[in-house]
Amino acid sequence: MAPTDQTTAPPLRSVLVTGGAGFIGSNFIRYLFEKAPFEGKVINLDKLTYAANPRNLEDIAEKFPERYVFVQGDICNGEMLREIFETYAIDTVVHFAAESHVDRSILGPTDFIQTNIVGTFQLLEAARHYWIDTVQSPRPHRFHHVSTDEVYGTLSPEAPPFTEKHPYLPNSPYAASKAASDHLIRAYYRTYGLHTTLSNCSNNYGPYQFPEKLIPLIILNALEGKSLPIYGDGLNIRDWLYVEDHCYGIWLILTLGRIGETYNIGGNNERTNLEIVRTLCDRLEEAAPARENTRLRDRNIKSYRDLITFVKDRPGHDRRYAIDASKARRELGYKPRESFQTGLTKTLQWYLGHAKWCQEVRDGSYQDWIARQYGEPTDATPTP
Ligand code: NAD
Ligand code: TYD
Repeated sequence: MAPTDQTTAPPLRSVLVTGGAGFIGSNFIRYLFEKAPFEGKVINLDKLTYAANPRNLEDIAEKFPERYVFVQGDICNGEMLREIFETYAIDTVVHFAAESHVDRSILGPTDFIQTNIVGTFQLLEAARHYWIDTVQSPRPHRFHHVSTDEVYGTLSPEAPPFTEKHPYLPNSPYAASKAASDHLIRAYYRTYGLHTTLSNCSNNYGPYQFPEKLIPLIILNALEGKSLPIYGDGLNIRDWLYVEDHCYGIWLILTLGRIGETYNIGGNNERTNLEIVRTLCDRLEEAAPARENTRLRDRNIKSYRDLITFVKDRPGHDRRYAIDASKARRELGYKPRESFQTGLTKTLQWYLGHAKWCQEVRDGSYQDWIARQYGEPTDATPTP
């Protein structure tokens, strides 16, 4: 089937969001209801793994009972997916569901292969079945796949940022599984004419991020007086993007993007990990000074920076990621709205103001993960 070069916006009447109880998915659903000119219905399908918190959207569920439905389920279950497409007459998919943490993919890649590759395949099959195969002429539809800059591999310090034409050179099991899913998206567009779009995005930060990722881990460890682990020399670079800007970028792609196209979304904000951790320590000193924190004061720790600890590097640790988002700017008018300063202020305020949410995600199985990953109690082991 010949691919089309359509720009027609999808109907957006019945939107299946996968992984909508996770970090970016829940922010995206919030964005749809609170910030976008969106009048349709959202079906949030999530397996509720350790990374999910269905309470992230409690207020949305209460405010929009007619327009928001939560379904607990696994994207690897093809039969259930077909039922969902039929029952809710899905016309748009925004696919976030994934195993998303690089360190976990190194310790145990199986779930990454299953969810990120097999799950994406099952979702594509269900979409093809409902939108194309079982009807005389295809139903209007759109399938947006959310991916990562990590599929492009690593950059040397002087190399230009990743464009959409950069070759795929994934280095971790996580990145390889996302790369495989991206290839499936392309194949379903080229072979079956499925109306797909794809975005490759840089590191996100903001409210509701699970504290296994760098920024929330550092904020919560610091407040709890635990060590702030920096892998290797701390000079690895990431391009940080405030999560709401990512959601805005996805909205633009959905409504203005060309079918079959890939768009890079980035924050234009490259920082070393060491710079991120030091900045967080300094910003926390202003908002919640270490000298007033009994957990630190009792152990005579005078500043959050004293908690910084260099630990063993991550195997295969990519040195630098950076995104060239000029295609999205040119074609869609995309530009991040938050600076790193304003994004970080909002993020810190959110974590400081949501102690109960933090407490909930920090107990239970999360503690087992900490023990396996860092192999030591995370009570402060300050560097001299
Ligand atoms: P997350 O880990 O916070 O959330 C993932 C969600 O998917 C969770 O709610 C989880 O329960 C759900 N899920 C996992 N397996 C599932 C399955 N088999 N069936 C149904 N639901 C399942 O991840 P995130 O940070 O919100 O990332 C969302 C997407 O964005 C991912 O595809 C990720 O690869 C991509 N991405 C993330 C970043 C980032 O910085 N966080 C950057 C670029 C791209
Ligand atoms: P992370 O938030 O896991 O995102 P990703 O691996 O997808 O980029 O890590 C961001 C960077 O921070 C990465 O270079 C690894 C580093 N890092 C640490 O130095 N210490 C930590 O405890 C974690 C979780 C990450």
